[in-house]
Amino acid sequence: MNKNKLVFANWKMNLHSEDINTLVKGVLNGLNDISGVDIVLAPTFPYLGIVKLLTANSKIRLSAQNVFWEESGSYTGEVSPGMLLDVGCTWAMIGHSERRQHLLETNEMINKKVLSSTLKGLNIILCVGESFDQRRTKKTFASISDQLHRGLRGVGEEFLPQIVIGYEPIWVIGSGQAASLNDISSVHNFIFTEVESMFPTAESLPRIVYGGSVNTTNVEQIVDLDNVDGVLVGNASMDCDKFCDIVLKVVK
Ligand code: PGA
Repeated sequence: MNKNKLVFANWKMNLHSEDINTLVKGVLNGLNDISGVDIVLAPTFPYLGIVKLLTANSKIRLSAQNVFWEESGSYTGEVSPGMLLDVGCTWAMIGHSERRQHLLETNEMINKKVLSSTLKGLNIILCVGESFDQRRTKKTFASISDQLHRGLRGVGEEFLPQIVIGYEPIWVIGSGQAASLNDISSVHNFIFTEVESMFPTAESLPRIVYGGSVNTTNVEQIVDLDNVDGVLVGNASMDCDKFCDIVLKVVK
């Protein structure tokens, strides 16, 4: 099982080539020779190639922010797992709440993406999280359980090493205020137990990372929690100094 913590940078629909060039060079410089941590950068599709070139010979890995479930065909605007691998992108994010909300992605679509991506050999981060309303009405665990069961339906346990679960409470994303340590801890423990019960004979279970307003001041306490295997960082991942600081705090 991969015991390294994971720091996953989700740039969302931000950054053009010039910003990317400066940011990635800065990150490579700031994290020169770092080990014991997995770092994944997720630019938008058009910039995957540029980031691949910039990070060649480094340990940084590349992720797409989305992927389609078919390998090729008449699916205008979509990108397949094999195409991602072809350009050196070894990860895909699946089911981010912004895609569930704005692109109306369902758990069924997400499940097809999980199945075809893992089968093709991609690593994936499957994002789950509750809305403010679900939290207010005490449906957090039910909602997370539903997303896990439907998102991971039919996944063979041999694919679990390729899977990371990203827990992101929707109401704290981009808010500047992460969920409380208590909340993070109880949901991560819940996810761990839930996944363990879904795959009772699995040798290794997916890592579980927290996302939602992670920054340089809260990251250490978050990754110190049991069952928190890293962080998924949005805003702070686009600032070189902040991102390097976060990675260094995760690894120490
Ligand atoms: P944030 O975004 O760190 O800006 O809250 C996290 C995410 O949406 O992945």
